Amino acid sequence: MLTLIKEQLMPSWSADKCLQGVLKSWIVIALLGQWAFAVYILSIYALPLLIGAPEHADKVSPAQGFDSSGGFNSLMFFGHIIPAALMAMSGIFQLSPGMRQRYPRFHRYNGRLFLVLGMSGALTGLYLSWGVGIRLSDIGAMGVTLNGLLIPAFVFLAWRSALNKQFAAHQRWAVHCFILVNGVWAFRLFLMGWYVINQGPNGNTRSLDGPADISLSFLCYLLPMLVAELYFWAKKRRSDSAKWLATTAIGVAALITLIGVGAATMMMWSPRVVMIFNNLV
Ligand code: HEM
Repeated sequence: MLTLIKEQLMPSWSADKCLQGVLKSWIVIALLGQWAFAVYILSIYALPLLIGAPEHADKVSPAQGFDSSGGFNSLMFFGHIIPAALMAMSGIFQLSPGMRQRYPRFHRYNGRLFLVLGMSGALTGLYLSWGVGIRLSDIGAMGVTLNGLLIPAFVFLAWRSALNKQFAAHQRWAVHCFILVNGVWAFRLFLMGWYVINQGPNGNTRSLDGPADISLSFLCYLLPMLVAELYFWAKKRRSDSAKWLATTAIGVAALITLIGVGAATMMMWSPRVVMIFNNLV
């Protein structure tokens, strides 16, 4: 009787549909956050560079004091950051099954571009942090350093499985690559979201080496990787309870992303975009 009522009232609420629905919601929220990040990068880094005034980027960037003189380190700095805008604009399309099926050629080229730029972002980032010394503290830079070391390993796994046409494995490694390459973006979301939830800093320091800063610098990619594993595990299971568990985890992830996107856009990115435009005009 109960089953009959359930079927009549909620005929389309299957565990599978809810799981796919909540995943799509997360993709839409992440897409907005990625584009907001791309607008920020283009405004505060690409625009000053394009008009021949890179020193303006230095005034608003969190990496103040970087070399904007046009030398090798300056090339590495802008070569690290500008491609991130391209990845933020197009990377997320790799996750959409509809895009993959309708535009397989786009998926292949965009995927190659994402993996190459992701790899170069990791290597140039490691160089900037440990070669040039752009880091606020050693301990605070550990999270992003592990992130940078994991990227080449996962890029290799994603690329090799695509070449070997092992599509299930490719999907899994590629999703982890997406999460790792976006660790820097997610850290900003986690940090600003943390500030909003706590109504200010709580376990944070200016040099990003407080207990909250250090935890968030690892959690920003390890937590999404765990949720992704939960999703792949649930997809293989027949039981609805596994799918509901994954649906709940992705639902919570979507909520955290939404809070983070709102907080980072309002508190971190838009004030700096306004500042750079005021400086330039
Ligand atoms: C592929 C992954 C990565 C991407 C897409 C990326 C992207 C970015 C972006 C967009 C910025 C400017 C941030 C801002 O203005 O708020 C930035 C800054 C920076 N990144 Fe990366 N990054 C990546 C990996 C890394 C890694 C692995 C390291 C070091 C181990 C690193 C070190 C730095 C440093 C030192 C800065 C300047 C200081 C700062 O803004 O925090 N990056 N990165």
